[in-house]
Amino acid sequence: MSTMELKTMRAAAGMGDATGADWVSLNARQRCDEASEFEQELFKRIVAQDDAVMALSQIYQVYLAKMTLPSKPLGALLFLGPTGSGKTRSVEAAAEILFGDSYAMVKVDCAEFQHSHEISKLIGSPPGYLGHRETRPILSQEILDRFHTLQNKLTFVLFDEIEKASDALWQLLLGVLDKARITLGDNRVVDFSSCVIVMTSNLGAREMAEVTEGKVGFTRRFEAEPELDARIERIGVEAARRKFSPEFINRLDKIVVFRSLSEESLRRILDIEFQIVQRRALMSGGGNFVLSCAERAKDFLLAEGFDRRYGTRPLKRAIERHMVIPLSNLIATKQIDVGDVVYVDVDETGRELCFKKKPCSAAMEWTQSISGGRGGRGGSAQPLAA
Ligand SMILES: Nc1ncnc2c1ncn2[C@@H]1O[C@H](COP(=O)(O)OP(=O)(O)OP(=O)(O)O)[C@@H](O)[C@H]1O
Ligand SMILES: [Mg+2]
Repeated sequence: MSTMELKTMRAAAGMGDATGADWVSLNARQRCDEASEFEQELFKRIVAQDDAVMALSQIYQVYLAKMTLPSKPLGALLFLGPTGSGKTRSVEAAAEILFGDSYAMVKVDCAEFQHSHEISKLIGSPPGYLGHRETRPILSQEILDRFHTLQNKLTFVLFDEIEKASDALWQLLLGVLDKARITLGDNRVVDFSSCVIVMTSNLGAREMAEVTEGKVGFTRRFEAEPELDARIERIGVEAARRKFSPEFINRLDKIVVFRSLSEESLRRILDIEFQIVQRRALMSGGGNFVLSCAERAKDFLLAEGFDRRYGTRPLKRAIERHMVIPLSNLIATKQIDVGDVVYVDVDETGRELCFKKKPCSAAMEWTQSISGGRGGRGGSAQPLAA
């Protein structure tokens, strides 16, 4: 449509309020199918961090609508919050959904660039400088574009632990956020306008932990508490404002504060992690079996791995120690056959997990017998395969 036609239409529409019968109300909250599917898949993978999921899916919707600006990145998000709460995982999950690979992103660990001269690893050295030919810049256009597919020509760029960045890296980051452009050592220009820039930091995490742990008047937290969430959010945003310059804060689309995870959320993450273990077993080649887990085995792992200060990491360690290592032994010693159902329970001492199997045919009967009743906690088991 030409500018002239646009002007004529605007004039015809008039400037009055749109109350006539021929005005149709629009639903500006509706997402297109691709964006809602992306959002649903993120919700399946990321537990209890709805703001992060919504922020990422909003950016994706703007990208799909081609409403982005050529001189700005697709999005600029700052993820704050405690360790092991899903900041990095959210970006990995987004890459996994759009590109089928959680590594399909460019990750810059700012702690590795604490000295200004190290910036040459990111942008290369100018011609004539030592190492000009040997160092291939991490932030070149080819590297940014390498995961693009026909449907998705966007890139997630993750700057982890930005509070550790050197001054030179800050300048570079500001350039990316401001103009979506940087100039490499050899003067080539790199365009970041198709990039979603996500920066993470643990700033304010200790103060947030004190609030959730109850040291300043709150009790141990098990469920969503809107007032507490708002308070934690304020702590994060204030910490960011204290630490970072106003130019930086001004260039962000959103600061997302991740919550510390409740026991209930960790239980949901446990189920996701089981599915990941099941997939690992399938991909190992020797593990074509179905993993099934008693509720009390889940309780055992949660008890072993619950530590609010360290989020999911102790839980993941408990899964590795009590489940993945014994399963690896079972696979390597060929005690499990193709199609077996491997059932994980707690042994009689209550201090270890134990493993039993049923061969394929018996397993099918057994699965049918339990599929009707998901029963009580004690011994009920559900197949874990997705
Ligand atoms: N909210 C969550 N939903 C699902 N899985 C999660 C969540 N939080 C953490 N995890 C699991 O725990 C692992 C560690 O989380 P992640 O690396 O995202 O922590 P982080 O917030 O980036 O911590 P840090 O500040 O230490 O880098 C993830 O790989 C994932 O398996
Ligand atoms: Mg991280």
